[in-house]
Amino acid sequence: MDEPMPTRWSFQDFKMFYDAKFGRKKEAEQKENVLVSNVHTNGTNVVNEEFRNQANGISSETTNGKPQKSLLPPFDSAETRALGESLCRDIIRGNPDVKWENIKGLETAKRLLKEAVVMPIKYPKYFTGLLSPWKGILLFGPPGTGKTMLAKAVATECNTTFFNISASSIVSKWRGDSEKLVKVLFELARHHAPSTIFLDEIDAIISQRGEGRSEHEASRRLKTELLVQMDGLTKTNDLVFVLAATNLPWELDAAMLRRLEKRILVPLPEPEARRAMFEELLPSIPGEEKLPYELLVERTEGYSGSDIRLVCKEAAMQPLRRVMVLLEEEPDVVPEDELPKVGPIKHEDIETALRNTRPSAHLHAHRYDKFNADYGSHIVQ
Ligand SMILES: Nc1ncnc2c1ncn2[C@@H]1O[C@H](COP(=O)(O)OP(=O)(O)OP(=O)(O)O)[C@@H](O)[C@H]1O
Ligand SMILES: [Mg+2]
Repeated sequence: MDEPMPTRWSFQDFKMFYDAKFGRKKEAEQKENVLVSNVHTNGTNVVNEEFRNQANGISSETTNGKPQKSLLPPFDSAETRALGESLCRDIIRGNPDVKWENIKGLETAKRLLKEAVVMPIKYPKYFTGLLSPWKGILLFGPPGTGKTMLAKAVATECNTTFFNISASSIVSKWRGDSEKLVKVLFELARHHAPSTIFLDEIDAIISQRGEGRSEHEASRRLKTELLVQMDGLTKTNDLVFVLAATNLPWELDAAMLRRLEKRILVPLPEPEARRAMFEELLPSIPGEEKLPYELLVERTEGYSGSDIRLVCKEAAMQPLRRVMVLLEEEPDVVPEDELPKVGPIKHEDIETALRNTRPSAHLHAHRYDKFNADYGSHIVQ
């Protein structure tokens, strides 16, 4: 039998109801108190166990042998400290495992990047005075041509603290917070120097200021803070680099462009680079029919690196499709060790793949060339 509902509420019932309805706010308040009290009791060093562990992890990796460094610099308030902690999650630890050899072609871009970032970090002695390193570097080019890959290769090759910042980690929905985030980010980067701040898709963070009245006050302040901080970098000897990537370079503010002094075009892949990609993604198997690499290279003029990946995937899918037709005729699920073998890729599979994959980025290629001619960095022999 069901219990009748109480007609009068006891204090306990009331409390349960209240917690269920308004409890969340109370909990948050409690959490905040805990955080603040932690900061008070632990002094300005490391907030809690988790961060202490992380701090050990990072210092042993990046400062090999040198005295250990805490993960966070001594911040002046609990608020900036909390922002600093959230940015720490964007530090790439270990390495993203992209090597220069994994990136096909793009020899000019690689050489300019090595000259601008890798060498000054490895041999700071040469890069002083007039030759002090470029602090702002922009990678621009059509989508899917390897800009993000290049930045990751920099992170892998030169063992610096690497901050991987995208628009989502820097644009806070709280008014005014983004601007503080930027300030804290640069403070963290200086604390962990040498470091690289990678701003991917920078056009999303900063586009031309003051376009009509549509621009939000808070986002204008964010941009201004970024400009001020980047200006600060050029005046000091701290090894902090800003590496930015975009596929809409013409949307950048003139002031931002001035601070990104080194502008490197990452173009669509040349025939040799395309061939290298095909040979890596669709390796020829000894004893099987040789794949028509010449044809692939010829027919993919204007394809980006990621388009080429799609062509290869499509081609490799065809033999699997043939197997799947067979499997669909089976009444039951075939056990794993009895599955039929997937055959080799045939000539017509390549044709099908080429027909079904269209280039996505070639239409604007000339705009990038023009931007490069007007603003880009070149290798002068
Ligand atoms: N030069 C290249 N060598 C090898 N693979 C490449 C190259 N360029 C592009 N790719 C392939 O394309 C994929 C996308 O590359 P990436 O993310 O670096 O492009 P992106 O230039 O950052 O594009 P977006 O501007 O859209 O962010 C890579 O994961 C890789 O598989
Ligand atoms: Mg990218």
